[in-house]
Amino acid sequence: MAKVKTTFFCQNCGSQYAKWQGQCTSCKEWNTIAEEVIQKPEKSDWKLPTTPSKRAAKPLLINEIDTSQEARLDLCDGEFNRVLGGGMVQGSLTLLGGEPGIGKSTLLLQMALKLPYKTLYVSGEESQKQIKMRAERINPSNNHCYILTETKTQNIFKQIEALDPDIVVIDSIQTLHSDYIESSAGSISQIKECTTELIKFAKETATPVLLIGHITKDGHIAGPKILEHMVDTVLQFEGDRNHVFRILRANKNRFGSTNELGIYEMQGSGLREVSNPSEILISEKDGELSGNAVAATLEGLRPLMIEVQALVSTAVYGTPQRSATGFNAKRLNMLLAVLEKRAGFRLGAKDVFLNITGGITVDDPAIDLAVVAAILSSNEDVALESDYCFAAEVGLSGEIRPVQRVEQRILEAEKLGFSTIFISKYNKIPLKKTGIKIQLISKIEDLVGFLV
Ligand code: TYD
Ligand code: MG
Repeated sequence: MAKVKTTFFCQNCGSQYAKWQGQCTSCKEWNTIAEEVIQKPEKSDWKLPTTPSKRAAKPLLINEIDTSQEARLDLCDGEFNRVLGGGMVQGSLTLLGGEPGIGKSTLLLQMALKLPYKTLYVSGEESQKQIKMRAERINPSNNHCYILTETKTQNIFKQIEALDPDIVVIDSIQTLHSDYIESSAGSISQIKECTTELIKFAKETATPVLLIGHITKDGHIAGPKILEHMVDTVLQFEGDRNHVFRILRANKNRFGSTNELGIYEMQGSGLREVSNPSEILISEKDGELSGNAVAATLEGLRPLMIEVQALVSTAVYGTPQRSATGFNAKRLNMLLAVLEKRAGFRLGAKDVFLNITGGITVDDPAIDLAVVAAILSSNEDVALESDYCFAAEVGLSGEIRPVQRVEQRILEAEKLGFSTIFISKYNKIPLKKTGIKIQLISKIEDLVGFLV
């Protein structure tokens, strides 16, 4: 028997070492280096299924390159298409990451069932029967979707060669293993090798491949960082598991912008595209309640009206509690300090809770003003007018700062029937006549004057 060959890999960044060491020289993490067995079969009769290479091997003038073949595949899913930049590019490799149970398999299976092309869905996680049961929950079903339960890449390629699908979905990259490497599935060297084989396959046959990737505890895609460099597009599927909304965003996209966002709602029968999210995110209520304010935010290029709820109450313990869901807790503390120092509100002895409704997380700074308004409203126990909305950043000295693309936010607020929008005095707004009142403010004290 041939001698077993082993190499040491950093489990964090994927760097390779000849012997064990305590710290990884490239990513500086401690105790991440582990031994993995790699052994290439001396001579294998297996090779990638090769249709003659479609790529010319000689240099071409950039203007001579024909891009008509780079046609994009329509995925029959408006949100997915938008996030990818208008459909999936032929021969591209897309990686979809997300928390366990968030709906990655559901999203891709549902897409595979809708596509009018021959689709191969390879699963290493569920049996064909389990997938069929899941497919029965999701209504639209066609007769172009093939299901394969296999984890060995060599066998997968054999099946692909026989079937010749137009698009391949792999669930998940961590379950694949290649005969070329002996270590177990999910190890760094296996993930690297299987991805390399899939890239070779995708580029040579111009077939798009979608990969599902697990994520680690801290939210990164499990496996070497190099995985994200290797693929063309990295998508992230996120949301709060207890809420129905799911957001699909691109973290990397070689063929489009990373600003776009897709929103889905998880239902009993799969994921539903949400094309007008603002209407759902603003809750219906009878009568006016204190502590609620609506922010005109932008997620990517899409305007999104989001409701912010705050509860300010007298602290029962010595140290007041501050907690925020869907909003950065440090930023909440900063806004509370600004309110205390610049507007004279004594919030030091109060508990403050903040919640963004719908279970989504917002990082648009334009939400600041709505957060401040919600806190003020709860503190004074006075309800804000329900047709007010806010879009501005709050600075450390209490100044109201301008935000980008304010026209788009104003138009969305107008469309949804808001009467007044509060924005920064320093925002340049076009002189076009709008049906909504634009209230310009420059300091946090101005806002206090309006609201309480
Ligand atoms: P799944 O796609 O298995 O998650 P992942 O592949 O990301 O681990 O999603 C599982 C969750 O989705 C599960 O908690 C149940 C829910 N779900 C629905 O609510 N409706 C449905 O139609 C389906 C198929 C799943
Ligand atoms: Mg899954």
